[in-house]
Amino acid sequence: MICFEDFKNEIVLYVHWPFCISKCPYCDFNSHVEKNIDYTFWKNAFLSNLDYEFQRLPGVKLKAIFFGGGTPSIMKPELIKSIIRRAKNNWVHESEMEVTMEANPSSLCSNVMRQFKDAGVNRFSIGVQSFDDKELTFLGRNHSSIDAKEVIFKAREIFNRISIDLIYSLPNHNKKSWNKKLLNAFELLNQIECNHLSCYQLTIEDNTPFKIDYDKGVFKLPDDDLSSELYTLTNEVITLHGMEQYEVSNYSRYKDYCNHNLHIWRGGSYVGIGPGAHGRILKNKQYYATFKPKSPRAWVNKFNENNFFYSKDYLIPSKIRAQEILILGMRLNEGVNLNNLCEVSETQISKIINMKKVNELKDNGYVNLNDNNLHITSKGLLVLNNIISQIVI
Ligand SMILES: C[S@@+](CC[C@H](N)C(=O)[O-])C[C@H]1O[C@@H](n2cnc3c(N)ncnc32)[C@H](O)[C@@H]1O
Ligand code: SF4
Repeated sequence: MICFEDFKNEIVLYVHWPFCISKCPYCDFNSHVEKNIDYTFWKNAFLSNLDYEFQRLPGVKLKAIFFGGGTPSIMKPELIKSIIRRAKNNWVHESEMEVTMEANPSSLCSNVMRQFKDAGVNRFSIGVQSFDDKELTFLGRNHSSIDAKEVIFKAREIFNRISIDLIYSLPNHNKKSWNKKLLNAFELLNQIECNHLSCYQLTIEDNTPFKIDYDKGVFKLPDDDLSSELYTLTNEVITLHGMEQYEVSNYSRYKDYCNHNLHIWRGGSYVGIGPGAHGRILKNKQYYATFKPKSPRAWVNKFNENNFFYSKDYLIPSKIRAQEILILGMRLNEGVNLNNLCEVSETQISKIINMKKVNELKDNGYVNLNDNNLHITSKGLLVLNNIISQIVI
């Protein structure tokens, strides 16, 4: 089991690129379509933001970098390179540190992917979403399944570590059709020895075109019972293909986990740069939440004001941080160590978790508690949010 002590002097870095070529109708991420991007300006702002974070946390070790978005695969490789180089110059790190980039399969060629690799990216996470063209059209994606397959093959020639995102629980998905689609996906994943997969159920987010259409009845989605069945099926099929479910929606073979995300889910400190990127840091034995303005313009103005970056940190009471770590940790297959929670919160476990409830849920098969390690069972996973709301005090 991971000991919280291991995390105290380690951070991961999240870099948010807020732009996309087009906006998908289901997406409520902080992503915008912008034609005129002044790369020199953005580079200065990112590097200033990075240096600002380094000033606050100089003596820690950097464990991983993650470029998320938006669509970071439309960033200029030169910008990616500058950010990675500055982060590596600033913080102590392993020579083979994981550097992930999220990518949209549209408009990606081998040449650009090679430049990303030369810049220091060594893990490529491709937003395929579906291998069915009708579904891609429904999702408003700007690529076909052939585009996605081509990019996957080319990416695999360049990167050893590849991950693929799929979305399911779409209109007309039933157990038979989703099973077939997953099996088809695995034919490709096995062929290219892809050892990481993220599978998300389509969520209808507020303030999206999908929300309006869904409310008008333009399309219907599987009901709760079918969604649960599809989730169980997903876990079964993926496990049969030799992947381990290590988080609610994330699966891997040979422990090829996304170390950036795993660090955050385990309660480690993280630094976020770019519009809307938040962070959780530990300074002088106190926990802080860090926020960046969400809109690209407001974030850029922060830099414009003084030609350097400044943002305010908010103290988080240690009990609240412990509860955050509990909520994140319950999403992990490995669960949460209650001793670590006591250490973080500097209080007794009974002040964070309702242990009477935990024992009831354990007797009913929703959670397991072994050696002070609390984790969710496959039965509990289907009602995870409900379980969490019952145990957090
Ligand atoms: C930032 S995107 C990945 C990179 C790139 N922007 C793209 O879409 O290809 C992260 C992932 O979140 C998932 N996602 C986004 N919105 C979702 C939604 N409403 N429901 C389910 N999954 C969603 C998609 O699988 C997507 O690949
Ligand atoms: S490409 Fe990705 S981040 Fe951009 S709008 Fe689509 S789902 Fe959202």
